[in-house]
Amino acid sequence: MTWSREERYRKYRDVSEKERMLLKKKVNACPWRQSFHIQPPTGLLNDPNGFAYFNGEYHLFYQWFPHGPVHGLKHWYHVTSTDMVNWQNKGLAIEPNEFYESHGAFSGSGIVDQGDLYLFYTGNTRDEEWHRHPYQCMAKMTKENELVKAAGPIISSPPKGYTEHVRDPKVWKTGSLFYMIIGAQREDKTGCVLLYQSRDIKEWEFLGEVITKLDAFGYMWECPDYIELDHKGILIFSPQGIEAEGDLYNNIYQSGYLVGWPLNRSTMNFDHGPFQELDRGFDFYAPQTTLSEDGRRIMIGWMGLPEMNYPTDENGWAHCLTLPRELVLKDEKLIQRPVRELANLRSNQEEVADQLLNERKSYPHIYGTTYELEVEFEVGTSEVVGIEFRTSENEKTIVHYNHLNKKITLDRSESGKEVGTTYGTTRAVGYDGETITFHLFVDVSSCEVFINDGEEVFTSRIFPSDHSTGIQFFAQGGQASFQAKKWDLS
Ligand code: FRU
Repeated sequence: MTWSREERYRKYRDVSEKERMLLKKKVNACPWRQSFHIQPPTGLLNDPNGFAYFNGEYHLFYQWFPHGPVHGLKHWYHVTSTDMVNWQNKGLAIEPNEFYESHGAFSGSGIVDQGDLYLFYTGNTRDEEWHRHPYQCMAKMTKENELVKAAGPIISSPPKGYTEHVRDPKVWKTGSLFYMIIGAQREDKTGCVLLYQSRDIKEWEFLGEVITKLDAFGYMWECPDYIELDHKGILIFSPQGIEAEGDLYNNIYQSGYLVGWPLNRSTMNFDHGPFQELDRGFDFYAPQTTLSEDGRRIMIGWMGLPEMNYPTDENGWAHCLTLPRELVLKDEKLIQRPVRELANLRSNQEEVADQLLNERKSYPHIYGTTYELEVEFEVGTSEVVGIEFRTSENEKTIVHYNHLNKKITLDRSESGKEVGTTYGTTRAVGYDGETITFHLFVDVSSCEVFINDGEEVFTSRIFPSDHSTGIQFFAQGGQASFQAKKWDLS
């Protein structure tokens, strides 16, 4: 089904209750609704926004098009949680009904200051010729979760030298000053980020472009985030327009980061190492971080990508968010660990340990559709070790380590209903070791595979049948051993 411009830009209030109920019914009948991931009640979810700990709870918002599985007039949807893993739907938060957001309340961030949660976002507008005019906007959320928008935009036009692609403000505070980083495009159509500063969170001054070593790295940098860990500066962003290179950059768009010395805010220089991808899977984009109540740096991403169709489209919804992950810096690399609160979702622990001699084995008590599975392999004399999950006679998703070519691969070529196959059906990353751990979080229509305590992550949607519940452990070309623990999650 194609959606006309009118349909994509219909106001929330112009859609009747009856129409909404019908859509909800269709969504609820979908076999791929998730059980422990944040997903939209109807319509399309994209970037996580405004992630913050405020007033005793985690507040998280996401980009939301309510009326169907397409990109259109974007709203912010609100969810809250006390532990980052059990979330409550709170409904619509930002409805774009002002002139400066006529074509969507686009992505942005949240920061708590003096007892209020401030939300920053991009007001997207289009003129009659459909030219884009972005505004940077602010709203305040009270302790009663009431949202009050600022009287008008806080930044009304892109600085000279940049196109209309300036969006996704991320705000933080250092000492007594607030900083805002914004994704941008230079007039020569290359991507970069811009920095603003404020003393009072309301009036913003343009400091300039952050100077990196990446002069021509894609045509637009979306959803930037700047954090500091262990006295290093880390710039996270999602560049568009990067060509695939072997196992790298195989998705339509990428998300990654640069690690360097803390950003020099007087020279604007950011002295950094190479761009590193955050995720090795098929579906990961536009992540955002915040600090947990106890000071851990937590990241959540969009488990999806722009400009792709997904099998849930026919049921009137699309996409979900990733699980929250704690970020730790190790040897200039970000390690991602599923937050420890995820243990709150566990039930029914099962265990198995075995030796495999050039064979594939399953165990009667180890199976499921929504679970956590931790597997440690000793590679031994084998050539390949791995796990097949969500299996049935004709479906399986495979993650394996090949000791000969030193690669870890996720293969969704037989996972079930196809998705994004024009971008390939396997993803891989290099690794060399005698042992390997696979830590899987499998939901109804996704898997997140953490390798070796978060050194690599493969995040992917998969669309298997509900009877594909098998789990198999295998070793090829020799002998290997493994031990595994499994919990049901809900
Ligand atoms: C990234 C993005 C952002 C933008 C938002 C609109 O997925 O394109 O740059 O603010 O989505 O929904």
